Amino acid sequence: MNEHFLKKTLSKLNIGGLRYFDSIGSTNDEALAWATEDARDLSIVIADEQTQGRGRLNRKWFTPKGSALAFSLILRPAAPLRPHLSRTVGLAALSIAESCRALGLAPRIKWPNDVLLNGKKAAGILTETVWSGDSVDSVVVGMGINVHSASVPPQERLQFPATSLEDELGKDIPSRDEILYNILNSFIHWRARMGTDELIKAWEESLAFRGEQVQVKAGGEDQVTGQLLGLESDGSLRLRDANDKSITVRFGDVSLRPAA
Ligand code: ATP
Ligand code: BTN
Repeated sequence: MNEHFLKKTLSKLNIGGLRYFDSIGSTNDEALAWATEDARDLSIVIADEQTQGRGRLNRKWFTPKGSALAFSLILRPAAPLRPHLSRTVGLAALSIAESCRALGLAPRIKWPNDVLLNGKKAAGILTETVWSGDSVDSVVVGMGINVHSASVPPQERLQFPATSLEDELGKDIPSRDEILYNILNSFIHWRARMGTDELIKAWEESLAFRGEQVQVKAGGEDQVTGQLLGLESDGSLRLRDANDKSITVRFGDVSLRPAA
C-alpha cells in the first residue's frame, strides 16, 4: 500500500481528500484533528499500521503492518442527512458487508459495530462526533478490516473470536486498495440513500442472530435477553422478551451475544 497508488485507485471516487501514513497512532485521532481544521466532506485518513488503534471505550484495536485496512472517513453531513445520523454505523457496516459479499463470503453484522465472517469478527467500526455547540459539525467513521491472516490478534487478547478475509477465503484475495475501493463505493452508494427504508431493510437483512435468542449487556450490570427481531427506523435494535414484550436497545456501551 502506498500513497501514490491509493490516490490513483480512489481518484475514480468523489472523496474530499486523503492523508496516508505508513504508521500512525490511530486514524480516528488524526481524522478528528483534521475535522476540526479544514477537512472536506468524505476526506479519508488511512494507515498501513496503527500503534494505538481504538475500539469502543478505548479498547485496543490491533492493526499490524502490511496486513489490514484501517481508515477513517470524515463526514460533514448536509442538512437533509442530519436527522439520520444514528444510521451511520449501519451504513458503514453494510458497506463492509457488501464488499465481503462481492468476494463470495457470507458476512453478518453483529449489531451495532462489528462484521462477522463465519461467526468470527473480521471488522469493527468506531464512529465519533465532533460537536459545534449542540449541533454536529462532523462525524468520523473509523473502520478496521482484517484482510490478511497476520491481522488477526492472538486468541488471548480477544473477548470474541476473530478472523480475516484471507482466513475465510482460503485463496488469493484482492489487494487492500481494491477492497478499500469497493467499501468506499458502497458507502457512497448507501449514503445517498441514508434516509430511506431501503437502507434499514438491507442492514436488517444482514444482521447476525436474526430470529435467534440473544443477550444484550448494557454498561454496568444491566442485561436483557430476547429474540432478535430487527431494527427500529433509527437503527436501534428490536427484541421480544419471554413475556412477548417489545424491547428497544439503543446504541451505547452494549454487547450482543447469542443467548447461552
Ligand atoms: P462487543 O463484542 O462486546 O460488542 P466489540 O466487539 O464491539 O464489543 P470493541 O471494544 O468495540 O468490542 O472492540 C475492541 C475489541 O475487539 C478488543 O477488546 C479486542 O478484543 C478485539 N479486537 C482488537 N483488535 C481486533 C482485530 N484486529 N480483529 C478482531 N478483534 C479485535
Ligand atoms: C470495534 O470493533 O470496537 C471498532 C474497531 C474500530 C477500529 C478502526 S481501525 C481505523 C479506526 N482507527 C481506530 O483507532 N479505530 C478505528
